[in-house]
Amino acid sequence: MLRIIVMTLLFALMSMPAFAVPAGKSLTFDKAANGSVNFDGSLHNKAADKGCRTCHNPDTFPQMKKGSVTITMAKIYAGEQCGICHNGEDAFAAKGKCNQCHKR
Ligand code: HEC
Ligand code: HEC
Ligand code: HEC
Repeated sequence: MLRIIVMTLLFALMSMPAFAVPAGKSLTFDKAANGSVNFDGSLHNKAADKGCRTCHNPDTFPQMKKGSVTITMAKIYAGEQCGICHNGEDAFAAKGKCNQCHKR
């Protein structure tokens, strides 16, 4: 019995990095008046096949901590933050597709 508990705990600890924003987890950004934005970690880790550093790099989202960066549309339109991909080439463009991200 104890052995099973220890193994389960060890397994949980070992798999933690993989379960961060990634597998199954999503973040909700709810500050915009036109609706909150759900960021799906699983979908985005599939999209970002170059790994966590696609987003977690000094220029984009340096910290693995929600709220450490203030996301603005100006930055997204300028090709920063979510806009490194949501530019109409790597993923749908932000302009004109407001409701694909913002849900009321
Ligand atoms: C497509 C972009 C993207 C990718 C790829 C990505 N993340 Fe994130 N991650 C984010 C954003 C955006 C945040 C929120 C940052 C902020 O608000 O400042 C975040 C936050 C986090 C957080 C904090 C979650 C919380 O509840 O505060 C962790 C942990 C994390 N990421 C881990 C990872 C790991 C591990 C990987 C790679 C397996 C990864 N992320 C890949 C965009 C990404
Ligand atoms: C590494 C590239 C990348 C980054 C960075 C990125 N996305 Fe995406 N995102 C994608 C791709 C690829 C899709 C799939 C749809 C497509 O191909 O246009 C997608 C889809 C979405 C969807 C639609 C999900 C659905 O259910 O249809 C939302 C919402 C979204 N992204 C929000 C965000 C937000 C918010 C950020 C910034 C915090 C962000 N994305 C950053 C690549 C990215
Ligand atoms: C790729 C996803 C995405 C798309 C598409 C998108 N937004 Fe956003 N938007 C965000 C995220 C993420 C935030 C940050 C919200 C937060 O911090 O809680 C944001 C913030 C905002 C804000 C508040 C901050 C600011 O910059 O003013 C407004 C207003 C806004 N969006 C309007 C829009 C409008 C209008 C459109 C369509 C023309 C749009 N958004 C399309 C993801 C998106």
